[in-house]
Amino acid sequence: MLRFATHDASVVTVEFDTGTKARFHAIWLRDNALDSETRSPGNGQRLITIGDIPSDISVSAAEVSNGELTVTFQPEGKTVTFPSDWLAEHSYDRDRSLPTGRTAPGITTWERGIDAPSADWNTVHANPAAKRGWLAAVAEYGFAKLTGGPTEPESLLKVADLFGYVRQTNYGPYFEVRTEVNPTNLAYTGLGLQAHTDNPYRDPVPTLQILYCLENSAEGGDSIVVDGFRAAEKLREQNSEGFALLAGYPARFEYKGSDGVCLRSRRPMIELSPDGELIGIRFNNRSSAPFVDVPFDQMEAYYAAYRQLGEIIDDPAMGVSFKLEPGESFIVDNTRVLHARLGYSGAGSRWLQGCYADKDGLLSTLAAMEMTQPEAAE
Ligand code: FE2
Repeated sequence: MLRFATHDASVVTVEFDTGTKARFHAIWLRDNALDSETRSPGNGQRLITIGDIPSDISVSAAEVSNGELTVTFQPEGKTVTFPSDWLAEHSYDRDRSLPTGRTAPGITTWERGIDAPSADWNTVHANPAAKRGWLAAVAEYGFAKLTGGPTEPESLLKVADLFGYVRQTNYGPYFEVRTEVNPTNLAYTGLGLQAHTDNPYRDPVPTLQILYCLENSAEGGDSIVVDGFRAAEKLREQNSEGFALLAGYPARFEYKGSDGVCLRSRRPMIELSPDGELIGIRFNNRSSAPFVDVPFDQMEAYYAAYRQLGEIIDDPAMGVSFKLEPGESFIVDNTRVLHARLGYSGAGSRWLQGCYADKDGLLSTLAAMEMTQPEAAE
């Protein structure tokens, strides 16, 4: 709750009853006014542009009454009110000394030994709290299994329907992951695949992948997932300069394995937000193109860091492995969690279907569920 406010022309300072103080600029308060002329009451969207705010905006009065802050702006002569909780939630006057390479709040990094988050097909379809828990696991851990599903082809599309939409690519709405003659992609062979993120040659990359098992009686073919954020954290702990190189220079990725397709990107292996938060990993030996954006004097150190990140990713202590049964699937956050598979051969067959979807849709569905069902999910 607000206790009182003081102001000068350009800044309002409020004190909460916890003793915490927070400063807000006149321009910021005016831009974020909550009145119906500034924000549409129906959809919450802003009705004004930055140019609609006078450049000489100032505060002529600021006072607290009934726990709310009332501010009058000049030269408009406009008075607006801000609830105490809203100000507390949106305060930006805080210590900014955040470490580079940190993960966002709500993300838990992991190594081998954690129980793979998992939910049951029928339960997530019938029980919103279970669905919410499954989506929350993808948000927190970057992957989750779904078991007990149907074994019909295209069932994976129903997984995407639970939270969003399939993202179509040149591989179609979904793709068959099984051994093919003349494969257009090494995924369509029995070869083992090093842990990787998919399609780093796209910009933006597909942010979620669903891999759905229809048959898996072959020897081998186990799935392995590795937390790329944990790998990046380890690299930063072991070799902070190498971490900075992989984050600081673009790599290059390319795919031109089928007719009419030539996908290229120029993006870093470790992607940070402008203020240093870890936001993405791209790691894929099959589709790395020659790196030409690293200065000559740094190239050997860049490669040493790339090798070191690869060793961390390949370390068996990092991966969570499981063998999918028919009707089982898993979803990975393709901006964070790498997936691998052991090679397979011999009698029996292995048939997975894969598709892409987008994380913003999953996070939107989760956030909307959290707003309407505030109780904790089981
Ligand atoms: Fe893949």
